[in-house]
Amino acid sequence: MDKKVSKIKNGLNGEITIPADKSISHRAVMFSSLANGKSIIKNFSNGADPHSTLEIFKKLGVEFNFTNDELHIISNGKLTPPCQNLDCGNSGTTMRLTSGILAGQNFNSVLIGDESLSKRPMKRIIEPLTLMGAKIESNDNKAPLRFVGQRLSGIEYKTPIASAQVKSAILLAGLFADGKTKVTEPYLSRNHTELMLSYMGANIKTDNTTTIIEKSILEPKTIEICGDISSAAYFIVAGLIVPNSKIILKNVGLNPTRTGIIDVVKAMGGHIEILNEKVVSNELLGDIKVEYSKLKACEISGDLIPRLIDEIPVITVLATQAEGTTTIKDAQDLRNKESDRIFAVVTELKKLGANIEEAPDGMIIYGKTSLTGNTTVGTYHDHRLAMSLYVAGLICEKEILINEFDWINISFPEFERLFTNLLT
Ligand code: S3P
Repeated sequence: MDKKVSKIKNGLNGEITIPADKSISHRAVMFSSLANGKSIIKNFSNGADPHSTLEIFKKLGVEFNFTNDELHIISNGKLTPPCQNLDCGNSGTTMRLTSGILAGQNFNSVLIGDESLSKRPMKRIIEPLTLMGAKIESNDNKAPLRFVGQRLSGIEYKTPIASAQVKSAILLAGLFADGKTKVTEPYLSRNHTELMLSYMGANIKTDNTTTIIEKSILEPKTIEICGDISSAAYFIVAGLIVPNSKIILKNVGLNPTRTGIIDVVKAMGGHIEILNEKVVSNELLGDIKVEYSKLKACEISGDLIPRLIDEIPVITVLATQAEGTTTIKDAQDLRNKESDRIFAVVTELKKLGANIEEAPDGMIIYGKTSLTGNTTVGTYHDHRLAMSLYVAGLICEKEILINEFDWINISFPEFERLFTNLLT
């Protein structure tokens, strides 16, 4: 489906509730499947990616029922051998985290993915899991991944990149391994795995960038999932760059390992306020108020990168509207996401009239530029690129056409309806 987007005349106004966090939804399904008893997930994501995870755990013998908007999960804490390949679709989180779980089972299994996922690097998890004793066959370190179930032993491992998927794969394998498993990362990546495993009674301890886990029995729990700050990001940026906007985004996850975008907005001088903070199911959440602002450029690098990794495409759109030169560095792993996000963002935003350059590990954006639009852009089968281009389209002088816009369903099927709710 192609999508036409045109300039918004009267600003975005009002309040919306941001749908469930994708990362937390994946983990809620996986960890509840490993618990012995009935777990309840409130506010499970409608995105295609978390549903890929759910389908996989069904094939591993776990029972799922949707009742009154709640997802009930019934498990005896043990997975059963699947009779078919397990399809992760487009979801890197599904493939990498499930690998950690499958490596230490007493049965064999195969993980497959779509065209994009089958091109993404899996060496980053194959290497540490193999050190723990896992037997994994791959297509030159890419999917399909074939697991020959093994008994695992704990390791001490320093991850070369700050990746929550890598860290989580090792910690999950550690749940089934003999002895202690210790993971240290260069900077802290999102810590939903650590928080949820601890909430479910696992034997896990974190000290700064190091986490230690031991074999544990997980307790079934009620998990209420907060809104996804990565989805809120499109509205945060739109609210800041569309003149006459003032919006409130409700129920957004504010885990400090995810709030890099809020720090960037503050550094750029944007008007942003956090309201009604509280902790639910071991995660911090609250409401975000944002309004149209005059912005200045800033540098985005180092330990900030893992705290906003998925928001970089839309932050780039924001930077086109900031006075001065915004530099994004240390973000080379963006080239390994659903698309090469450095190349894709630079190529497509240039078409819209942005003054932007590609660097090996990031981008340089010269602002403020008025975006001309009047062109067709592509999404590279990447949901985050599709939504970032939509936000850019809201301030383009002339209408734009976004090809294959339906990739947004991977994480955020409610995206357009929520934008429409804010039109005045
Ligand atoms: C995720 C971790 C990040 C992020 C992805 C979701 C997770 O990936 O980009 O969208 O849920 O653990 P990396 O761990 O590869 O940085």
